[in-house]
Amino acid sequence: MKNLFDLSGKVALVTGATHGLGMAMASALAKNGATLIVNGHTPSKMEKALKTYQDNGINTKGFLFNVTNETEVDQSITEIENTIGPIDILVNNAGMIKRVPALEMDISEFRQVVDVDLVSPFIMSKRVAKTMVERGGGKIINICSMMSELGRDTVSAYAAAKGGLKMLTRNLATEWAKYNIQVNGIGPGYFATEQTAPIRVDGNPLNEFIIQRTPAGKWGDPEDLAGTTVFLSSKASDFINGQIIYVDGGILATIGKPLENDKK
Ligand SMILES: NC(=O)c1ccc[n+]([C@@H]2O[C@H](COP(=O)([O-])OP(=O)(O)OC[C@H]3O[C@@H](n4cnc5c(N)ncnc54)[C@H](OP(=O)(O)O)[C@@H]3O)[C@@H](O)[C@H]2O)c1
Repeated sequence: MKNLFDLSGKVALVTGATHGLGMAMASALAKNGATLIVNGHTPSKMEKALKTYQDNGINTKGFLFNVTNETEVDQSITEIENTIGPIDILVNNAGMIKRVPALEMDISEFRQVVDVDLVSPFIMSKRVAKTMVERGGGKIINICSMMSELGRDTVSAYAAAKGGLKMLTRNLATEWAKYNIQVNGIGPGYFATEQTAPIRVDGNPLNEFIIQRTPAGKWGDPEDLAGTTVFLSSKASDFINGQIIYVDGGILATIGKPLENDKK
């Protein structure tokens, strides 16, 4: 049974793994035997991240490239393939959010979010799948969001991109299942990372709303994604194609609790 989840001999690349959810998922893959490669695009953050991985007993190599740049992606993946080996597991995690009301959002900001959160997983997947097809299989995991399903004030670009990423996941799963490539997604709920740091402050009404709105009653810990990431990267998920697993403390399962003074 344990062998079903063993990733020994597999090469895994996680984008945006210099901190946050990417680092937690990358660490989980390495701890289950994968040879780990992490991507980031800020040299100082990469340097700090590589030290953190090392301090935690995780061997990894870092590759700095911008996931939205097709040329940089191609050069880096080619270098990884030539120096470490072809990629068996790709986690498209790099992402960004801009919290701006739609009426005030510049089109250039909207485009930037869509570029990072939706176009880049396509660029990455297309490049990596080329070699997966030649080698007879692979695993691709796209990091979606609850905003793949729900809207919220100020996140029009993010919701559009993450909703698109859900459908890209289903479409690539459909096209590539015949090559034994499983494409699936993980939809995290609200997790404590840099991206959500501006919200997680005492007195911020959104912070209180999120805790109240989550049936589990708390923010997710990035390590809560470890099991699902390993599962979707392993043999245990070989007949799972095009699914998004929401790891959200139950938010998407419920309409929410009544407010304190409105229990009707
Ligand atoms: N945190 C949550 O509650 C939550 C909920 C749902 C979904 N998600 C999704 O989960 C993923 C990770 O979230 P997080 O909270 O860990 O985010 P984060 O703390 O902001 O980390 C994002 C990572 O992506 C990297 N990145 C951004 N743009 C890039 C680019 N163009 N090229 C290469 N790397 C790039 C960042 O590098 P730099 O630091 O150098 O910019 C960083 O390593 C994202 O896709 C996010 O949308 C997060």
